Amino acid sequence: MSHNIPLLRPYFDSEEIEEIRNVLDSGWVSQGPKVKEFELLASQYLGVDSSIAVTNCTSALHLALLAHGISKGDEVLVADYTYPATGHSVMYCGASPIFVDVDPGTYNMDPEAMLEKITSKTKAVIPVHTFGQPAEMDEINKIASEKGLVVIEDAACAFGAKYKDSFAGAIGDIGCFSFHARKGLTTGEGGMIATNDEAAATLMRKLSVFGITTAWDREETDSFFIPEFTDVGYNYKMSDITAAVGVVQLRRLNRTIERKRELAKYWDEKIEEIDSIEAPVTSKNSYHIYQSYVSLLDRGVDRNKVIQKLQSKGVQAQIGTYASHIQPVYDSRDLCPNSLDIFNRAIALPMYYGLEEEEINTASSILESVLRELV
Ligand SMILES: Cc1ncc(COP(=O)(O)O)c(C=O)c1O
Repeated sequence: MSHNIPLLRPYFDSEEIEEIRNVLDSGWVSQGPKVKEFELLASQYLGVDSSIAVTNCTSALHLALLAHGISKGDEVLVADYTYPATGHSVMYCGASPIFVDVDPGTYNMDPEAMLEKITSKTKAVIPVHTFGQPAEMDEINKIASEKGLVVIEDAACAFGAKYKDSFAGAIGDIGCFSFHARKGLTTGEGGMIATNDEAAATLMRKLSVFGITTAWDREETDSFFIPEFTDVGYNYKMSDITAAVGVVQLRRLNRTIERKRELAKYWDEKIEEIDSIEAPVTSKNSYHIYQSYVSLLDRGVDRNKVIQKLQSKGVQAQIGTYASHIQPVYDSRDLCPNSLDIFNRAIALPMYYGLEEEEINTASSILESVLRELV
């Protein structure tokens, strides 16, 4: 169904077309020089030593866990309110995701709840920077360093977000980003790993290419050699066509973020005038990039009906994301009441670079009338 006001509309223009054309004309379209350029730009932007471009954030998380030897018998603390990728990546390694409840305001991992879940089997923690708002990284890092845990940031939604003065994804041991269509920097599908840990970077790069050296690195040397398979690696490579889009999107990123922050402020003002719904909470420590604009409906309001009614009136809305601990695949005994509550009440409203204030006026007055009808 098409909507008058969609939830998202990725922004591309002639710059992406030109950059893709250059790659197509170059004759090298798989992983090659454009990926290298994108990785370098990402490292410079984030201020990290190494960036590794991959197929998506799910493969980034998988490689990050493998780089730290996470395997069967290990427990990994995972922020409960998240996308399936976070818990699944732990399962790919044969380890157990242990779900940690979130703060009811920011939807991010609650450091106190994290502390309570640590056992002798806990090896790592994956805080999620939910919807583009960084988690409380000082407290999470402090607990992790006291308990000897690796910190892998699920920064899928947070390229360009900041916690205090540091970029999300560049604060823990390894940061993982997504360039999926709903992200502020999108390549359709895509991901990036960022780290200052040279040994981990070398291993993750190798594991992203079957466990051998990359074809481009081989192309660049004069000597002929046949690579050996030393590890069971994966095919998690990004192509140069994808990287061409990424390079342009990264150049434009600050403008995209600034505009989305303006739009979020405008949404906040509108939501504050409407009964039965609360605007999202922003922590004083965070520079929120609003991958999504997710509000909370009052308890007792039928969120799913609100979404359906909005859809029928041309405004696309969605749930926020998922409460992981209740998903059958994890067979979890964890209790995360805040996450469950948010899972049931959250509503994502239209948010994208090209959205206009006029459209927010229309969407918010439709939302107000829908809520008046239902409450
Ligand atoms: C919090 C979170 N982690 C991981 C992912 C997975 O990203 P990808 O689709 O690039 O694998 C997503 C996707 O939206 C996400 O929201």
